[in-house]
Amino acid sequence: MILVVDFGSQTAHLITRRIKELGAKTLFLEPQKAIAQIRRNKNIKGIILSGGPSSVYSKNSPAVDVSIFNFGIPVLGICYGFQLMAKLLDGEVVSGKKEYGPARIRITNNESRITNKLPRQFTGWMSHGDEIVKLPKGFEAVGESNHVPYAVSQNLDKKMYGLLFHPEVEHTENGLVLLKNFLKICSADLKKQNINEKDLIKNIRDKVGKYSVIGAVSGGVDSTVASVLTAKAIGKNFYPIYVDNGLMRGGTQVHLNKIFKHIGIKLNVVKVEKEMLKKLQKIADPEQKRKTIGKFYIEIFEKEMKKLQKNLPAGRQVKFLMQGTIYSDVIESKGTKHADRIKSHHNVGGLPPEMKLELLEPLRNLYKDQVRGLGKNLGLPEEFINTQPFPGPGYAIRIRGEVTKERLRNEKIADKIVINELKNAEIFHKVFISFPVMTNSFSTAVKGDGRVFGEVVALRIVESKDVMTSDWAKIPYEVLQRISSRIVNEVPGISRVVYDITTKPPATMEWE
Ligand code: XMP
Repeated sequence: MILVVDFGSQTAHLITRRIKELGAKTLFLEPQKAIAQIRRNKNIKGIILSGGPSSVYSKNSPAVDVSIFNFGIPVLGICYGFQLMAKLLDGEVVSGKKEYGPARIRITNNESRITNKLPRQFTGWMSHGDEIVKLPKGFEAVGESNHVPYAVSQNLDKKMYGLLFHPEVEHTENGLVLLKNFLKICSADLKKQNINEKDLIKNIRDKVGKYSVIGAVSGGVDSTVASVLTAKAIGKNFYPIYVDNGLMRGGTQVHLNKIFKHIGIKLNVVKVEKEMLKKLQKIADPEQKRKTIGKFYIEIFEKEMKKLQKNLPAGRQVKFLMQGTIYSDVIESKGTKHADRIKSHHNVGGLPPEMKLELLEPLRNLYKDQVRGLGKNLGLPEEFINTQPFPGPGYAIRIRGEVTKERLRNEKIADKIVINELKNAEIFHKVFISFPVMTNSFSTAVKGDGRVFGEVVALRIVESKDVMTSDWAKIPYEVLQRISSRIVNEVPGISRVVYDITTKPPATMEWE
């Protein structure tokens, strides 16, 4: 078993996923509980100290007792975890060069077991603020980047290793090789473990008992797979509801009709377009938008719950709200004690504190690509699985500033153009997500010899599998050109189109 100590990194939980995929068991724990666990649990063969958002010098930054290094168990520190290790073992850490996104890593010592089978150069994804300027006694550098001399370091005698990039993220090349090398150093038992849909179905059945469940469905892969599992677990006691609030992509309801015909359960539709726009009036702050939408959703579901209760026998009352929440929604909404809140996903941090319905979230610990894999195993058609993700708050978070009827209409026209051109170029289904953003910035244009001071649209098209990291898609110039020309010509009030070429980290996929 590998102990993963959680210092609050967005990708700390992803480390446990990778370790499980490599076949070892994991335990994910807060730092305060680590030492007691190591004393108690003789199966712990390795310790991974995760990254985290803090500086090792901030006042309340999370830490572990230095005795964690005295158990003779191999330790791997990742970013903050390595900086903390360096500080605790009397190295020197300063608040220095920050690095976010891709960096070239060069291996300088080919002999190390931690870099076994790695090429001499590869790309690692960084996300850290502090800098190690002097390694602790007994440590040596194994790899460097352009910015940091100690990108990979080791203390051979003590089997302690440190990385200043994230081996767990999809965009780090050879990250799995590195983690596997660490597992070998730990002599961990490796046995393949798969996600088992039967277990997920049983968990739902056990939790729900004889009660009924209403479900928030959007046509996206997460709520579709969650619905299939729930329907398999409790059959007709599941009442899926689609809230058509006018912020969703065109064609969503037709797509949903197909999904629920396939599942064999009736879909209920609630139309609230006008009310939604009214609720969003004068709201420009992204967090307030999400919270307004989250709260409105819950009001609707509680109203629907009351209607349904009247026709249900006692003992089969509605007790749960099923959502297709996945782990990336959870962690960005400050899902763990030491994590930062990046944004309150409307279905997690955007929910009102007092809710009558209990949440049923069968996919809460899974990642997008795992959910897609599960969908495949459940025999769902490709068109249900490979839909582009679309955020729950819909177009509202792709319109910077206030969502007015006109700006929503413009966003929809621009989105249709992007979809259309990417489909024509056979790119739409190959990228993870693609959309225009109404930026609420304005620029000068000349249209028909007259001056226009119109809104700037930003195009965001990214590649990702698990949502945790993403790279901007290298779209052919002629496709970008066509999209740009069509948007400035066909969408009223638009003066300019720019292409967003920022990786995640640091920039999230959505602008809000
Ligand atoms: P970010 O922008 O956080 O997006 O990198 C990651 C994925 O999450 C979607 N997203 C949301 N989904 N409620 C949701 O259901 C939300 O509040 C929300 N915010 C972002 C986003 O579209 C992308 O797929």
